[in-house]
Amino acid sequence: MPMTASRFFALIPAAGVGARSGAAIPKQYLPLAGKPMLRHVLETFAASAIISQTFVVVSAEDGYIDSLSGDLLACIIVRNGGATRHASVLNGLLAMRSQVADTDWVLVHDAARPGLTGALIEHLIAALRDDAVGGLLALPLVDTLKRASDDGRVLETVPRAAMWAAQTPQMFRYGLLRRALEQAVEVTDEASAIEVLGLQPKLVEGSPRNLKVTVPHDIALAELYLKGFA
Ligand code: C5P
Repeated sequence: MPMTASRFFALIPAAGVGARSGAAIPKQYLPLAGKPMLRHVLETFAASAIISQTFVVVSAEDGYIDSLSGDLLACIIVRNGGATRHASVLNGLLAMRSQVADTDWVLVHDAARPGLTGALIEHLIAALRDDAVGGLLALPLVDTLKRASDDGRVLETVPRAAMWAAQTPQMFRYGLLRRALEQAVEVTDEASAIEVLGLQPKLVEGSPRNLKVTVPHDIALAELYLKGFA
């Protein structure tokens, strides 16, 4: 049987409630530069010729997704978000299983990172497509790091050399990623689950524009990037 080339799929966990954003609607639907945040992400993946299909995981009660998923955004909606990001990603992977081979790549990307560009997706894929493990976009830390005590005092300064802040997409082969997330106890990103298996994901330099929108102040900053002012 001839070998078929591995394909690239996107999986967007978008089932969070965004408690830290302080907004009345889930943060992935907050308007940003004229469109809901999640729509920016879906448009970026839809415009990327290298991505075969995008899956988006929303909570079963989500009442917003249908208003933005039509027309050009040919994504598959998985209405089965979990209690944590970890659970939502795993539910998404299970929903994809009949359409994806174990050796196909999955790029997991937060709905709350609207600054991702097609160029960053291509940069990540070019760096990892021949890699045995996979990896993630990340940024070397520039600030000096302090470990805090419970009462907000410095316990110690942590050397920042060789420290990186993890971003998304995080890109791993379907079979490995599913096994890793099924075995991991509770992880905040995919790379951590791969690390538990004793493997070392590759760090690929990302961009400050790919920030995660978490608090209200981040919305203004993300808008500056999306409007091309920063
Ligand atoms: O809350 P946080 O910013 O860490 O969420 C990162 C991403 O994970 C967001 O896109 C959010 O919608 C998603 N998420 C999810 N299911 C949860 C919690 C978060 O899909 N239960």
